[in-house]
Amino acid sequence: MTESLTVRDNRTGQEYDVPILDGTIKAADLGKIKSSDDEPGLAVYDPGFVNTASCRSSVTYIDGEKGILEYRGYPIEQLAEKSSFLEVAYLLIHGALPTKAEYEAWVHEITFHTFVHENVKSFMQGFRYDAHPMGMLMASVGALSTFYPDARNISDAENRHIQIVRMIAKMPTLGAWSFRHAQGKPYVYPDNDLSYTANFLSMLFKMSESKFEADERLVKALDVLFILHADHEQNCSTNAVRSVGSSQVDPYSAVAAGVGALYGPLHGGANEAVLRMLKRIGSKENIPDFIQGVKDGNERLMGFGHRVYKNYDPRAKIIKKACDDVFEVTGVNPLLEIAQELEKIALEDEYFVKRKLYPNVDFYSGLIYEAFQFPPEMFTVLFAIGRTPGWLAQWSELVQDKEQKIARPKQIYTGDRGLDFVPAAQRWA
Ligand SMILES: CC(C)(COP(=O)(O)OP(=O)(O)OC[C@H]1O[C@@H](n2cnc3c(N)ncnc32)[C@H](O)[C@@H]1OP(=O)(O)O)[C@@H](O)C(=O)NCCC(=O)NCCS
Repeated sequence: MTESLTVRDNRTGQEYDVPILDGTIKAADLGKIKSSDDEPGLAVYDPGFVNTASCRSSVTYIDGEKGILEYRGYPIEQLAEKSSFLEVAYLLIHGALPTKAEYEAWVHEITFHTFVHENVKSFMQGFRYDAHPMGMLMASVGALSTFYPDARNISDAENRHIQIVRMIAKMPTLGAWSFRHAQGKPYVYPDNDLSYTANFLSMLFKMSESKFEADERLVKALDVLFILHADHEQNCSTNAVRSVGSSQVDPYSAVAAGVGALYGPLHGGANEAVLRMLKRIGSKENIPDFIQGVKDGNERLMGFGHRVYKNYDPRAKIIKKACDDVFEVTGVNPLLEIAQELEKIALEDEYFVKRKLYPNVDFYSGLIYEAFQFPPEMFTVLFAIGRTPGWLAQWSELVQDKEQKIARPKQIYTGDRGLDFVPAAQRWA
C-alpha cells in the first residue's frame, strides 16, 4: 500500500490524498489543491530551501543527528584515513571505487590536463595587483568555457568526462596562480612528476629551486583536507551549480556559479572568522569572559554549531588529527591551545550541550591553513579545489536525471497591480 497524507482544505471542506514517497510529498500534488478553479493551486513557501528536497541524489549521505557523512556509501573517516583525494574524486564522479587500471588511467588523465592555455595566464595577469583570489578563480573557471566551446555538448558522456577531468586538473593551477598574483610572484607551471596535491604546493610555493618538494606530512594533511571538503550534498554552492546547470549551460559556467556561492561569508568564510575570534581572545585566561559573552548573547562561538550536524561534525574530528601532523612540521600555532581549551569548556557547558552545539569543520581548518602560511583570502580557494569533484558529480547526476527541469522557483507576489503608466514628460511636467 502506498503511504499518503490526507489534507483537508478548510476553505472548501474538500479532502485530498497526497502520496508520500521517500518521506516527501510532491509539491506539484499540492498544486491540485485549489479554493476555486481559476485560482492557482497551493504552493509551499520555503526561503532557503530548509525543508524542500530539490533532487534525488546518490552522491553523499548525511545524518546530522548522528554525525554521519558518507560519499557513495563510504564513511568519511575511512576515506580520509585510507584513500587519496584523486581516488575520492573518482568515487564521487563514477559512483564506485576504481580498479587499479582505472585508477592509474584516471590519475594519468588528471595529471596531464593540469596545464592551461597561455591566454588563460595572460587573462589572469590582467587582474589588479590586489585582486581577491576567489574573484580570480571564479572568473578564470568561467573563462575556461570559452577555451572549450565543445563543453556545451553536455548530453554526450565522453564529452562530459573530458570536461570533468579538465576541471579537476586545472583548478589547482588556477587557484595557485591567483595566490601568486596577489603576492606579485611569477606563476609556476604544473610539475607533472608530482602528485596532485604535491604539485599544487609546488605551484604555490616554488621559488628558484629546480624542483619543489613539500614535506610528505604536509602533502598528506592537505590531501585529507581536500577529501573532507569534496562534497556535502545540497549546500549553497552545490545548489548554485545545479541551478545554473539546469539551464543546460556548459559545466565551466555552472562551476563558476558554485565558486561564486562559496565566496560568500556564510558559506566558505567561517574558518577565517574562527581565526579572528581566537586572535581576539588572545590567551587562555580570557576564555571564561568570552564564553560568558556568548551565553549572554553578545558573541557567537565561531566554528561551533551547524545547520545539519547536531552532533560532533565528523570532519572536525579528522581535522583535529591533521592539526597534529601539520604542527609537527610547522611548529604549533599558539592559537591551538586557545582553541582546544575553548572546545573543552564548550563541550561541558550546559548552554552548548543543550543546544547541541559541537565543533564544525571550520573550527580547526583555519589553524591548519595558517600553519601553511596561507593568507585568509586563500582559505576559500582551497575549499573550492576540494569541492570541485563534488560539484561535478552533482552536475553530472543532474544532467542525466530525467526528472530534473530548469530551476524556476515560484514567488509570492507582494507588489502593486494594474497601475496606469504615465509617460515621464507628463509626470515631470
Ligand atoms: C552554523 C549556524 C549558522 C547554524 O545555524 P542554525 O542552524 O540556524 O542554528 P540557530 O541559529 O537556530 O541556533 C540554535 C541556537 O543555538 C545558538 N547558537 C547556534 N550557534 C551558536 C554559536 N556558534 N555560538 C553561540 N550560540 C549559538 C543560537 O543562538 C540559538 O540559541 P537560542 O535557541 O537560544 O536562540 C550557527 O550555528 C552559527 O552561526 N555558527 C557559527 C558560524 C560557523 O561556524 N559557521 C560554519 C558552519 S560550517
